[in-house]
Amino acid sequence: ERIDWDPEDAGKGGYEHYMLKEINTQPNALTNTIEGRVQDGEVTLEDFPEGTFEDVDDVQFVACGTSYHAALYGQQLLNQTGIRAQAFRASEYVDSATGSITENTLVIAVTQSGETADTLGALRGAKERGARTVTVTNVMGSTAAREADDALFIRAGPEIGVAATKTFSSQAVMLSLLSLRLAEDIEAVSAPDDQAELLRELQKLPEYVQTVLDSTAAKRIASRYTGSEAFFFIGRGLNNAVAKEGALKFKEITYEHAEGFASGELKHGPLALVTPDTPVFALFNGDKDRKTLQNAEEAQARGAPIVSVAHADHPAEKISDDFLEIPNTHSMWSGLLANVQLQLVSYYAAKNLGRPIDKPRNLAKSVTVE
Ligand code: G6P
Repeated sequence: ERIDWDPEDAGKGGYEHYMLKEINTQPNALTNTIEGRVQDGEVTLEDFPEGTFEDVDDVQFVACGTSYHAALYGQQLLNQTGIRAQAFRASEYVDSATGSITENTLVIAVTQSGETADTLGALRGAKERGARTVTVTNVMGSTAAREADDALFIRAGPEIGVAATKTFSSQAVMLSLLSLRLAEDIEAVSAPDDQAELLRELQKLPEYVQTVLDSTAAKRIASRYTGSEAFFFIGRGLNNAVAKEGALKFKEITYEHAEGFASGELKHGPLALVTPDTPVFALFNGDKDRKTLQNAEEAQARGAPIVSVAHADHPAEKISDDFLEIPNTHSMWSGLLANVQLQLVSYYAAKNLGRPIDKPRNLAKSVTVE
């Protein structure tokens, strides 16, 4: 497969930072990720003819940082479909998990750069144990692409900002498509009943992301809460992955204390940190939201401002101090829209604090040591 990247892509294209440009080019990145991979209500992936995955009985993801959060998203989707899956932090994998590999284990290395040493180490460990391997990566010709049995390219285009943005969205979509493909191939599980509808909604995702990009609430909310003592993000299911990614992005570029929790975990410890000076971003995707709402109210009772991310007229709107609206779509995709809102909040908070957004201190785009 050949991908043509416009040399102009390497510039900031009129944006103040690469990160802002990359956030804003997500509709286009997603269109490229999806292109040719969805046809007539089915997922078709190059190099994977029908039946390729019929022997798979469990999936292990290995990844680091933002890519790990995309892997968590994939794990959740596969588990929902009835396929056993687990996301591992690549740095932990070889020592603690390769023993569970069988000949029917599919190991998926998720890596934007394809060069992260921890992820390559995990990929090699999996191969040594005889696992079948696939990498989901952005870079053709990268080490991961060369070493894995197969590669799926997310086609998000070059990402220059150290904090990953568009590549998370494209990875999550790519892993969603791969999950649906696995469900089609594996006899013991069946494709989701509403697959045709969710794929139609996927085609509209670039448009929905554009709607989020056109809204101004994130900028206002970032200004309102800049200077708070800490920032918490809560979500359930797929939105647990998004809450963790929201917090990672926030800490990477603002240097402020931020944590992402599974909503229900808040009361099991982190609630001790909640005060009127710690805004809680609560993520809602229309799937079992009642519990997250209750968890948000528990934080609110301790004085924390609640910033909800949900579609218009969601019950969360009534209890929220601030509201980040996202288009109403299938729960499989709505977390990705919430994530774009959170990317914008992080970006504007970092800008208010005068941080070097594209090159945060102590961080590298790609970490090639273990
Ligand atoms: C570094 C970057 C992160 C990135 C991680 C994984 O730590 O600072 O932004 O998520 O590596 O990178 P990869 O290229 O493997 O996705």
